[in-house]
Order: sequence, then structure tokens, then C-alpha cells
Amino acid sequence: MCGIMGYTGSKRAATVLLDGLARLEYRGYDSAGVALLEDGTLFVRKRAGRVSELAESLAAEGFAADMGIGHTRWATHGRPTERNAHPHTDGTGSIAVVHNGIIENHEELRAKLEAVGCRFVSDTDTEVIPHLIAENLHLGIEDAVRAACAALEGAYAIAVVSEAAPDRMIAVRKGSPLVIGLGEGEQFLASSVDALLPFTRRVVYLEDGEWAVLTRDSVEIFNRDGNPVEPDVKTLDAAAADVELGPYPHYMLKEIHEQPGVVRRMSAERIRDGRPVFDEMTLPNSELAAVERVVVQACGTSWHAGLVGKYYLERLAGVHTDVEISSEFRYCDPVLDPKTLVLSISQSGETADVLEGVRLAKGRALRTLSIVNVERSSIARESHQALYMGAGVEIGVASTKAFTAEVGMLFLLALHLGRIRWRLRPEFVAEQLDAFRMLPTAMERLLSSPDDADRIAAGIKDAHSMFFIGRGPSYPIALEGALKMKEISYIHAAGYPAGELKHGPLALIEDGTPVVVVCPRDGVTAKTVSNAQEARSRGAFVIGVVQEGDDEAASVFDEVLAIPAAPEMLSPLLTVIPLQLLAYRTAVLRGCNVDKPRNLAKSVTVE
Ligand code: F6R
Repeated sequence: MCGIMGYTGSKRAATVLLDGLARLEYRGYDSAGVALLEDGTLFVRKRAGRVSELAESLAAEGFAADMGIGHTRWATHGRPTERNAHPHTDGTGSIAVVHNGIIENHEELRAKLEAVGCRFVSDTDTEVIPHLIAENLHLGIEDAVRAACAALEGAYAIAVVSEAAPDRMIAVRKGSPLVIGLGEGEQFLASSVDALLPFTRRVVYLEDGEWAVLTRDSVEIFNRDGNPVEPDVKTLDAAAADVELGPYPHYMLKEIHEQPGVVRRMSAERIRDGRPVFDEMTLPNSELAAVERVVVQACGTSWHAGLVGKYYLERLAGVHTDVEISSEFRYCDPVLDPKTLVLSISQSGETADVLEGVRLAKGRALRTLSIVNVERSSIARESHQALYMGAGVEIGVASTKAFTAEVGMLFLLALHLGRIRWRLRPEFVAEQLDAFRMLPTAMERLLSSPDDADRIAAGIKDAHSMFFIGRGPSYPIALEGALKMKEISYIHAAGYPAGELKHGPLALIEDGTPVVVVCPRDGVTAKTVSNAQEARSRGAFVIGVVQEGDDEAASVFDEVLAIPAAPEMLSPLLTVIPLQLLAYRTAVLRGCNVDKPRNLAKSVTVE
């Protein structure tokens, strides 16, 4: 969480920093701030709230500084106030630091620093860093930063500027991502490449433990032992640059509409000669075929994708699969025998709990495979093998197209495992892949008629509480529908297996309580329909997600969201779309900030 931006060059630093911070706002938007070095003097400006508010106040001051650092915050330690906003400074106000991550021993360090006379003005863990640097400044700024970092425990990415060395910016990465953007006579620094795209395509990802010194004309990188490292310069491709909103009012809607393209691209890249292909796979087929158990670990929407994946891996590959929430997995001392494959799923590739799950598995000498969207992210780099889902940049905090890409990848991976384990006939695999290829057309048809979702949203927008139910692979879709609804519209929503409603939650059904029933045509449609009837007869307003033409099922519901026919296996990739649209429209009608829901952030780098 939190976004960091840094700039040194000949442009107005404030303009560059604000542009970058606005692009990083999905990482946190509780407060924003900048530290600017102008004629050797440090100026710090910060605001509670959005980057746009900071921009308004800075505009009035007209700073000409050509070097500075900035931050957009997702609060961990200390409330989201101006006082707790970054950058933080030392007692003299001559050293400024922005930080992403958590300093675990900050209380102990603070007590020591207070004992030698340092005065703290915020409640943050970050503020110890500029004080520690100041205590060591006699060593020179670079060694002072290194000495300060040696005292820190936890994960962090930091950027530092100081009046003592006004020509340089120092960056350190330990656990939280940082990327350097290379320009001509200017250099950039950011938590993620998204912020750098308008300025440069040449980037260097800092590795864990590395630190860098940036001046206008040079970038020097050092490893944790202080030895210089040759920068590994990458060039970002055009797809990475696709972060503009275009004709859509919100990124979430844009990304919902990008889903057919995601599946189309995946089909083109990963289906060849009637087989799924994973050309990048370095884990040998013999090893994959011998796997006796898969443990999927992920959080949130990616966990829901993993639950659909369990269904695929068990049905298609015949491999026992457990799906764990990473924050539980990492602390539950799991039983993992050597023939277990740990499969991690993450859009951002930076979710702290998922990353720790990968490390736990590697610590037990297990093979780790990951499905990740952001290339070169920490989870991708630390896993034995990363498979990139290729969803493109996802900006909306509520994940949509990444879910679809994750489920698509799990489907193809399960077919691949089923093939190499000699469980599936080649003709069956080819048929499944043909059906997968047809999905984008069905998705486009769904997206071209959003009227039902619009009308139903108008009917439910004032609800206090909602339920989403489904069976089999529709159960994770019910969970996902409920998560989308609660996170962007702030209506309480809970997802349940359809058969569980009568074991407790039914007590909460009152006249008019909306119950969304995910009920495509499959082997359990009739069972799910009876659960819908049970809810309806207790006053619920039941909304069915049913297959077009299934009049029998449709007749039970007060409202229907119809999906095109699809094989049972693939229905989750269709049923999720009307639920995304329903959540989106409901949130818009309630006047919510769809792309930046309160209290949330896109990349959850704290546990
Ligand atoms: C919900 C959502 C979150 C993420 C979760 C995991 O819409 O986006 O629940 O799915 O924070 O994030 P990743 O996939 O980046 O590990």
C-alpha cells in the first residue's frame, strides 16, 4: 500500500510528482504530500485526503523546485490526518522521507530517539527514519541512510532527500517494491511502473536489499553489502502503457468491458494445436504430473478465483486441491507433504500475505507456482515459476478483469495437468478449448445489454443488507458478487453456499431483502432453485442469474439477469459479469467513489 514518487531533472518537480501520485492513488488515498528541494532548501507540503486537494494548494505556491519526493498514503500507524501524512522530517526539517511498508520495531526506536532528545510530531512508524538518518548524518547522507536502515526491522521502500546533499535522492528497497525510471538528464522513482509511463519506458526494478542514488545525470545501484550493481534496464511495452480511461466514466467499467479481450488474448497466446500451452514453464512435466495435492493460496477476489480453480483442478486434473486464505495459511502450520504444489494467485503480485505463503512453501522445500498479473512483481520473482495472466493494468480497486484472467488461467492449467496426467482424452481437451474460445463473443453479448443490471440496481440501491448464493462453481461467484457489492456500494452483502442459507442466515431475511441466486444450467440447478424459493417464501426479493431460455428457473425469480448458454465448467466466467455490473450500477446510483472505495487500496503490501 502507499505510493512513492521521486523526481530529479529540469522539469518542475511538483508537476511530475503530482502526476505520478495521481496514477499511484489506487495504492492508497488517505493523504498525500511532497517534499521539494528548491535552491537547497527543503519545503514539505501535505494534505489529508486526495492528491487533487494537495495539487490545489500547491498550485497557489508555484514552487520551481526541480527535485523532490512524494507520497500517497494508506494509513497503517496513525489516523489519516495531515500530521500523519508523508513526507516526514527530522527535527530540523532538513531531511525528508517517504515510506511504504511497516517498521516493526518503531516503538523501541522511537523510545531510544526520544531519550536522546528527538521530538516526534506524528503517530507514524515512519517518523523514526528521518530522525535515525539525522543521528548519523556526520557519516554523509548515503552512509547515514544505510546506518538508519540497519536499525530498521520490517518491510519498507523509502525515498530520502536532504538539504545536506541537494543534488541527490536516495532510495532503498527491502520487501516493498520500487522502480527507477531512466530519462535524459532526469531520473524518476516510483512504487510501480504505472506512475512512470508518461515519462519514460526505460526502467530498472530494484531487487530486495538494493539501494540507489539518483542524480539528474546518473543512477548508481548497490546491493545490501554496499557493492555496486550493474542496472538491469528493461523497456516497458505498449500494453503496459494502456492506463487511460478512454470513453468510460470509471476504470472499473472500462475493465469490466475489457474482459472479452482478456479471454481472446489468452486464447490466442495459450491455445495451440488443440492444447493449452505454457511455454514459459520450467517445472518439468514429470514433476507436475506427480503432484498429489495442490494448495492454492490467495486473498480476496484472487481467493475466489482459487475456489473456482479447485473445481477445475479436481474435475479436470483429478488432483486433490485445498484453497487457503493466505493470511491464515501462513500462520496455521499447514501439513504439506513433498508432493504438494503450492499455487499462489495474485493480481498485484505484491500482496504481503501471499508473498509470505510463497516463502513458507519454499522454506518447506515445496515447488511454488504462481499466477500473477504484474510482471516482475515480488510474488512472480520469488516463486519457482510465474505464469503471467496478461490482463493488462488493472486500476480500479475492485478487481474485475483480473478475476476473469485468473479463472481462465486456472481452467487452462487444469486442462494441461489433466493432459500430462493422462486423465483427459485429446478430443475432450480440444472441445473444452473450443468452448473457451467462444466465451468472448458471449461476454460481449452480455455487456451489450446492461439494462437489466441498471433496472435491478435502481430497485436495490437502498437495501441495508443483501445475500448472494450459489452451488458448486457458482458458490465462489456468489462470494465474488457479494464482495464486489459491499466494497464499492457499502451495502452489507454476504455470500453463502445455497444449501447453507437455512442453517442460520435465513433468519436475516425480511420483506424485500435482496437475495441474488447464481443459478446457471448445471447438475444442481433444481436444488438452487428450491433454495431461492425458500428465501422468496420468507419475503426475499430474489434475483436469479440464469441461462437464457431457462424459463422454468426464471419463473421463480422476481428479477432475472440472463447469461448466454455455456458449458457448465465455463459458466463462472459469464455469471460473474452481471454481478460486476450490478455492483457497479448500484454504487454509482448511491454516489460512491467506484474506483477508490473508502478504506481500501489496490496493492495490499502490509499483513
Ligand atoms: C477485491 C480485491 C481484493 C484483492 C485482494 C488480493 O475486489 O481486489 O480482494 O483481490 O486484495 O489482491 P491480489 O490479487 O493483488 O493479491
